[in-house]
Amino acid sequence: MAPAKVRGGGSVCQARRAGGRAIIGSVSGERGVMRIAIIGAGHVGGTLGRRWATAKDARHTVVFGLRPGDVPDAQLDEFIEGSGGAARAAPVLDAARGAEAVVFATPWKATKEAVQSAGSLAGKIVIDCTNPFAPGLTGLDVPDGGSAAEAVASWAPGARVVKAFNTTGFNIMANPVFPEGPATMFYCGDDASAKRAVHGLAAELGFEPIDAGPLSRARVLESMALLWVSLAMGGVSGGMELGRDIAFRLARRKSTA
Ligand SMILES: NC(=O)c1ccc[n+]([C@@H]2O[C@H](COP(=O)([O-])OP(=O)(O)OC[C@H]3O[C@@H](n4cnc5c(N)ncnc54)[C@H](OP(=O)(O)O)[C@@H]3O)[C@@H](O)[C@H]2O)c1
Repeated sequence: MAPAKVRGGGSVCQARRAGGRAIIGSVSGERGVMRIAIIGAGHVGGTLGRRWATAKDARHTVVFGLRPGDVPDAQLDEFIEGSGGAARAAPVLDAARGAEAVVFATPWKATKEAVQSAGSLAGKIVIDCTNPFAPGLTGLDVPDGGSAAEAVASWAPGARVVKAFNTTGFNIMANPVFPEGPATMFYCGDDASAKRAVHGLAAELGFEPIDAGPLSRARVLESMALLWVSLAMGGVSGGMELGRDIAFRLARRKSTA
């Protein structure tokens, strides 16, 4: 699945006027349907948003959050137009305000600003997909023992933060099916109902969701992401270059003891 991108170059109002298509549809709030805001409509956000908006069994409503000056690119605009109202674009603040779940899929360095631009996230499910890789993929760019997800939680008081969709590539989020079975999607957080919701969202994409514990486990999941990148693109990080069609999968068997 091709990634959706949001690029600068005009205002949201211009997007409304110019295309008449960028801001369409409405958030339905139907039972069983989640209202999801995607902040950062690039490779990860674009892929997740498209898949949730078109999920067979639970067609969620997805709003891609735009910054002032952003306009949806042609691919995203085309997807929105063809989504039958399941997806639309809106300013970040409006997208987040109307959402039950707010997904942050922004470059790590832009994430604090992105969270702060989303207004109050208190009570909302916040899904943190970011990876705080240090330059050169030498480690994680967070204070010792911390994690991006815990930082996101500190910037969004009262939000029910779940770390998820960070331990594999966007291409695997587009299709998590492997000959051995579905890829595993590890998630962690401190709010049980938020984790149940994220579990469901991962399962709808075809992952085997696994609860990895409290939000403090995010530091482990972010290190797993570093391992995934090292294995996938060894050329830049000194690991084995296995390519992007790899994923972590939890192997289990009946006890042989
Ligand atoms: N790529 C992967 O396979 C993968 C997998 C798992 C996790 N991740 C993590 O997920 C995050 C996103 O990765 P990506 O590959 O999707 O990056 P990407 O393709 O560069 O997408 C990031 C998007 O965020 C937008 N953005 C930046 N600041 C923003 C703000 N303040 N408000 C709203 N949107 C903003 C960018 O717009 P502009 O380009 O116009 O600035 C871009 O559209 C990163 O933290 C990454 O480490 C990536």
